Amino acid sequence: MHKIAVLPGDGVGPEITREAVKVLKAAAEKFDFEIEISEALVGGAAYDQTGNPLPKETVDCCLNSDVVLFGAVGGPKWDDLPLYLRPEAGALLPLRKKLGVYANLRPAKIFSPLAGASSLKDEIVNGLDLMVVRELTGGVYFGQKTRENVKDEQKVIETLEYSTSEIERVVRVGFDMAVKRNKKLTSVDKANVLESSRLWREIVNSLAPEYPQVEIQHMLVDNCAMQLVRDPRQFDVIVTENMFGDILSDQSAQLTGSIGMLPSASIGGSTGLYEPIHGSAPDIAGKGKANPIAAVLSAAMMLRHGFGLDKAAQAVDDAVYSVLEAGYRTADIMEKDKQEVNTSQMGDLVIKYLDA
Ligand code: IPM
Ligand code: MN
Repeated sequence: MHKIAVLPGDGVGPEITREAVKVLKAAAEKFDFEIEISEALVGGAAYDQTGNPLPKETVDCCLNSDVVLFGAVGGPKWDDLPLYLRPEAGALLPLRKKLGVYANLRPAKIFSPLAGASSLKDEIVNGLDLMVVRELTGGVYFGQKTRENVKDEQKVIETLEYSTSEIERVVRVGFDMAVKRNKKLTSVDKANVLESSRLWREIVNSLAPEYPQVEIQHMLVDNCAMQLVRDPRQFDVIVTENMFGDILSDQSAQLTGSIGMLPSASIGGSTGLYEPIHGSAPDIAGKGKANPIAAVLSAAMMLRHGFGLDKAAQAVDDAVYSVLEAGYRTADIMEKDKQEVNTSQMGDLVIKYLDA
């Protein structure tokens, strides 16, 4: 029995996780495994009902499950709350920390039927397949912050903290990933300015002899941002700290056509966290316009990394490919001569091709 905590959250979160759950149920039936789903409140939805964006019951529900499927959190309604009550900083970040999921895998792979949907030329992105390994529970996201009045203005301090062990464990995930893929690891830092990056680079170099088959490259983050749009296929695995990874993974997502396509898996703790990398998109919430593919592919990553159900995971990936090849598109990836479908129709189509 595979226990899944589902945290739909805010904005488009509920509508995309609904489709992912539908697909999981269909996959369970087809591949003969059992799932048990418990839903819990998170983000603005939890704050509105309980005054806390991450209620204790939700944390317990996650810790009592094998994996967590997360939708999205946040929206203008909660923007003015202090940081610790905001859906992002008050729920998603502490949840990642509590689950101990320090390595965030964000694959950016182009589905060839969508090569034309990328904002980059087909000849630049066709065949693109890279993986960002983002550190997820440290860095400036979790460092101490202060804000105070000094003379007649405000002064803030945010701190970027990393220890050797925090860096080493995520860099190892990067190396292991490179070993399984095309054996090229790009470590991204800002070693010309930041002390944390100098330490990061030293650690990468000190681990390198253990992975002789992996070719290592160090790249400054500004150059990496440029290289990603100049020649993204030079990359295989990118490993980097939390905030650089946040930014570079959005950029990588857009290379594939839409941020609505990119799943993620956060691993390293006892309970894995699976979430699309896009946010809650409040502007299109509730309109049936959201692309559920990132959530569906996150569910596939859950089957693969969380449960070791590789065949079922591959079948979901393949079903998504077939739906796209057959010409169905949500609004964000719509092109001329394709057929536009809404959120739940897209989920139904994935299930249809799963059975085909
Ligand atoms: C992401 C998101 C989050 C992050 C936000 C919502 C806190 O942008 O998962 O990339 O910055 O980590
Ligand atoms: Mn982000």
